[in-house]
Amino acid sequence: MIPINFNTDSFFQNPYLTYQRMRELEGAHWLEHQDHTGSGGMWMFSRYCDVVSILRNTQEISVDTKRLIKQAKWTAFDYTLLHSDPPDHTRLRALIGAPFSKDGIRHLEVRITRTIDHLIDNMVLRGEVEFQQDFALPLPVMVICELMGVPFEDAERLRNWTIDLLAGLDSALASDILHERRSTALKEMSAYFSDLLSRRHHPVGTIIDLLAANLEPPSCSPPEALGQCLLLLLAGHETTVNLLCNGMYTLLSNPLELEKLRANPELVDRAIDEMLRFESPLQRTSFRVAVSPLRVGTQEIQPGQCVSAVLAAANRDPGQFPDPDRFDINRKPNRHVSFGAGIHRCLGEKLARTEARIAFTRLLERLPSIHLTSEKPRWQSRSLFRALEALPLQLG
Ligand code: HEM
Repeated sequence: MIPINFNTDSFFQNPYLTYQRMRELEGAHWLEHQDHTGSGGMWMFSRYCDVVSILRNTQEISVDTKRLIKQAKWTAFDYTLLHSDPPDHTRLRALIGAPFSKDGIRHLEVRITRTIDHLIDNMVLRGEVEFQQDFALPLPVMVICELMGVPFEDAERLRNWTIDLLAGLDSALASDILHERRSTALKEMSAYFSDLLSRRHHPVGTIIDLLAANLEPPSCSPPEALGQCLLLLLAGHETTVNLLCNGMYTLLSNPLELEKLRANPELVDRAIDEMLRFESPLQRTSFRVAVSPLRVGTQEIQPGQCVSAVLAAANRDPGQFPDPDRFDINRKPNRHVSFGAGIHRCLGEKLARTEARIAFTRLLERLPSIHLTSEKPRWQSRSLFRALEALPLQLG
């Protein structure tokens, strides 16, 4: 077993050397890790074919954390889509799927474009901006509040809860203080959404309305409704911010690709896929648990052992992506796994792609000159998410 430390600054600043060593030397790496499940650790898989096989294996691998945690400790998170197996997963995904379909998000496009133009107007006036605070953070918050039916004036509060919840989840930062902050945020956020769900009686088409109207078993139990609210808020927030910031940074660090995109704006969808592959917003999945003995690649897994798929390592596997460390906005095929695969493939994929497509199209149309003001922005000390600390830019 090679010693690998996912908790060092050199890993946070460049995880790709570590991922390369994992792919080449082991494929499966056992990470000792004490968490609330008491499972002791997990197998982390880094090769593309192993990652895809884990994501698609719903027969021998379960995402249901309730199998691992004693009943008294379950929280709303244990009832989310991400922690449900069929048939519960099938039922819940059918219940909240429609607003995330192509038709479901089409009506949001005008609103998204207006918000993006407004954010760009403000940035143009200033000239020097911090892209994360001034653009990437406010956009997904506005969109998710609108879709869920959460009052926009509560966005700041929701953002702070999100930060506390996610910081406690990221193993690189785990500590008692963060654990405490996470429990408090979970309690407050649960009370907030339970209140919203109980006050909706006249459905007007938001996700909260949809859940409130179906708040009776067998459609949806109260902990399930609450769980989906928490998941959507978290999932819809952080990852899209990272896509926008990481994508902008990668374009600016590859000026020839940036020029190619400016000259060929119709390549925007392909460029977004390459941004997702190159700096995956979510680096790995949360753990799943083996329910029967199985083999992934050359590794035997015993029932009860946890596994995680390192999406960002799979996305740089040279067996799948020729010259994987090159950022190529015209890459084809580009079957990255940044949105996962199988039944848990990201529900918000179309929404995230729509936000990113309109954002990069309008940013490049309206801003003929964009430059990094610091040579090398730093990455946050996190191993689950790939997120910049800040992205200061100068606009010409
Ligand atoms: C660039 C942006 C995004 C990325 C990279 C991303 C990534 C992912 C990944 C990798 C998964 C699968 C995790 C697993 O299998 O363990 C997932 C699931 C999910 N995502 Fe996203 N996501 C993004 C945006 C969003 C948005 C905007 C929403 C909703 C507002 C969302 C909602 C969800 C939900 C509900 C699931 C669970 C699906 C299920 O278990 O059936 N995501 N996402």
